[in-house]
Amino acid sequence: MDLLKQRIIEEGRTIGEEIIKVDSFLNHQIDVGLFVEMGKEFRRLFDSKKITKLLTIEASGIAIASIAALEFGVPVVFAKKAQSRNLDKEIYTSKVYSFTKQITYDVMVSKKYLSSDDHVLILDDFLANGKAALGLIDIARQAGATVEGVGIVIEKGFQSGGKLLREQGIKVESLAIIDRIKDGKVTFLN
Ligand code: G4P
Ligand code: NA
Ligand code: NA
Repeated sequence: MDLLKQRIIEEGRTIGEEIIKVDSFLNHQIDVGLFVEMGKEFRRLFDSKKITKLLTIEASGIAIASIAALEFGVPVVFAKKAQSRNLDKEIYTSKVYSFTKQITYDVMVSKKYLSSDDHVLILDDFLANGKAALGLIDIARQAGATVEGVGIVIEKGFQSGGKLLREQGIKVESLAIIDRIKDGKVTFLN
């Protein structure tokens, strides 16, 4: 998505060769107009799929999923993060390891909001090593729901998440795929 790539180039701040901060439009301040365009693009990319629910994870995923939901006309369910272990029978849980934060946390979704009738599209802002997405896929599968795909705003193509998910046969569509970060410059795939 050219509009997004342009914003990443103009406003992204790189940290070393692995991290890109995009706080001015995605992760702190939100450019709602851009999000509306991204929501339309996700709808177009997953047009062939019957989607009944968008699934994401707090915090940053909520905004993009909510605006995309206007296009899909379905509810958003966001997994909650928790360090505590109140392993209620009424929730699905999965463990997620964060490479950036070097901690493992539990993600949880109430059984009330996902069922075997659901066709789920997972949306998130970043795809790095894919642990968050894998946790959400695990939760959807515990519910017996069908995972129709994963939609990502910014995929870091030099990290393993995209490959991992695509190797499992999951349809992954990213609005921008970063190929490389070098000397403060970002280059994209394609
Ligand atoms: P993974 O899920 O793909 O394995 O990624 P990882 O644990 O490494 O990522 C941890 C957090 O950092 C995630 O947000 C992820 O979205 C974000 N992240 C990963 N790489 C980048 C990057 O290059 N730039 C930015 N801006 N964020 C990145 P989170 O901890 O779940 O936080 P939030 O959703 O509450 O913001
Ligand atoms: Na996120
Ligand atoms: Na994030």
